[in-house]
Amino acid sequence: MPQRAYVIEQMISAKSIAARVEELAIEIAAEFRDTDKLVVVGLLRGSFVFIADLVRELELPVEVDFMEASSYGNATQSTREVRILKDLRGEIAGRDVLVVEDIVDTGYTLAHVLGILRSRRPARLRTIALLDKPARRETPVRADWIGFEIPDEFVVGYGIDYAQRNRNLPYIGRVRFSAEDDAVTSGS
Ligand code: PRP
Repeated sequence: MPQRAYVIEQMISAKSIAARVEELAIEIAAEFRDTDKLVVVGLLRGSFVFIADLVRELELPVEVDFMEASSYGNATQSTREVRILKDLRGEIAGRDVLVVEDIVDTGYTLAHVLGILRSRRPARLRTIALLDKPARRETPVRADWIGFEIPDEFVVGYGIDYAQRNRNLPYIGRVRFSAEDDAVTSGS
């Protein structure tokens, strides 16, 4: 698929994200203060920046593990099929688990992953998402902690991509596609 021309406008600054991550880490540490060793599960690939910042703010013993789930492909529309491309390395039965997502959109990815993890009988299973787009939700799932609620706009940065680009932006940006491209697309 040919790439459409776009520009990126900053939506949430790196400084705002850092301040919010600090606040969230304090709340999470309070919730899990009695936990022997919290298993923090990052959903690849989008959560890699968020989980790295979050665990460094968490004043708790943690184990870090990853799962990879994919629902997008290279398009801006979510599909309903969620594929598990990589499973956890460790066991979670009887453990306290925190699932870390970059963004909850339709909710299918998080709902699917939570279903799998729940079946493994963790002691406590909680979720955190940096971004939540409630307007797009198609399945009733909500993260226990949310960094920022955002409108239905296409976003990139801080781990989130558009066609595998822009994950390395230190801020969250909204993607603005060029009007010329829109004309071409709607005319085709
Ligand atoms: C994106 C994002 C979330 C998911 C949210 O992942 O990182 O995991 O989609 O969408 P949903 O709520 O509609 O399911 P993607 O599948 O693009 O993979 P990536 O994290 O590797 O970019």
